[in-house]
Amino acid sequence: MNIQENISLKNLNTFGIDVKARLFIEITSLLGLQKALGLEAYPKKFIISGGSNMLLTKDIDALVLYVNIKGVSVVEENDETLVVKAMAGENWHQFVIWCLEKGYGGIENLSLIPGNVGTAPIQNIGAYGVELKDVFVSCNAMEIETGELVEFDKEACQFGYRDSIFKQSAKGRYIITSVNLRLTKKNHALNTDYGAIEKELIHKNIVYPTIQDISNAVIKIRQSKLPDPKEIGNSGSFFKNPVISKKNFEKMLKKHPEMPHYEIDEGLIKVPAGWLIEQCGFKGIRVGDAGVHEKQALVLVNYGNASGEDILAIAEKIQTSVKKNFKIDLVPEVNIIR
Ligand code: EPU
Repeated sequence: MNIQENISLKNLNTFGIDVKARLFIEITSLLGLQKALGLEAYPKKFIISGGSNMLLTKDIDALVLYVNIKGVSVVEENDETLVVKAMAGENWHQFVIWCLEKGYGGIENLSLIPGNVGTAPIQNIGAYGVELKDVFVSCNAMEIETGELVEFDKEACQFGYRDSIFKQSAKGRYIITSVNLRLTKKNHALNTDYGAIEKELIHKNIVYPTIQDISNAVIKIRQSKLPDPKEIGNSGSFFKNPVISKKNFEKMLKKHPEMPHYEIDEGLIKVPAGWLIEQCGFKGIRVGDAGVHEKQALVLVNYGNASGEDILAIAEKIQTSVKKNFKIDLVPEVNIIR
């Protein structure tokens, strides 16, 4: 096994934070992963894959396993639907494109989300009215302690809003190695309700959209307000959108009648964190190379050489200010590695 020393992780995390792995190994097969997990000489291990949902704040004093296992195959098929198995190291968006080219529907609304297939279930990625769980069948994961492969079906994953068992009781115990998704071959259930998608389709005069049309619309919307991690380091939304009680919401609405909101359940209201952050005056601010995106206040950015601590300092200021002004706790969506 080719174990390297003092390897920069800058190109392996979408925030582009330049920290080093003391020891580093690239994993390209299940067997390789099993072997690496069994390396008893290196008890401390750290897993990285797409690096799209983490903020690294210091060098990693461990054996970093870079999971880069590739492969896509159809494992089940009938006239209407099929199950596609994608290995963890496949780039998510490339996988979406592959599905679109084959005419498989279900994940077109999730176009252009940074990261890899294997990390998608951890936070149940979602955008424009669709979440991974809507098409999810199961995933395979390797137990870090034993090297054993375990299957998690949809129920076992305990998906919630940007949440799953892999962020809760199973946190740090498994490495997802592949994901099975059920997609449609025809009669696609299109999700065009999200306001911005509807607008874009009308703008393009598209009355009967294809899955490719929806993907194109999503890509256009994302590009108009979310920075491309290849150009400006970021990890998408830094915080989750908070959910508050209807009682608190009604109090807030008196002061801020223009506040955007969505009722998600009886008595529970989701308020966009981006709006709260903008109200607190953070949209577009920049401190050194760390900042808040000028078009989407929920996205923290690295303009080049910011450290994880620089980004974290802004995140903490935002939390304090939102708490002071709105009495709401913002919870990070991004995994902060301290
Ligand atoms: N808003 C502001 N100011 C801002 C940003 C947003 O006032 O700076 C307002 C918007 O005007 C709008 C509302 O907040 O009324 C919602 O904004 P947007 O549609 O951009 O969505 P979001 O709630 O900020 C969520 C997801 C995104 C996902 C979009 C679209 C979370 C934490 N984020 O963002 O996911 O792409 O909806 O579905 O749920 C991600 O998780 O990394 C991510 C990018």
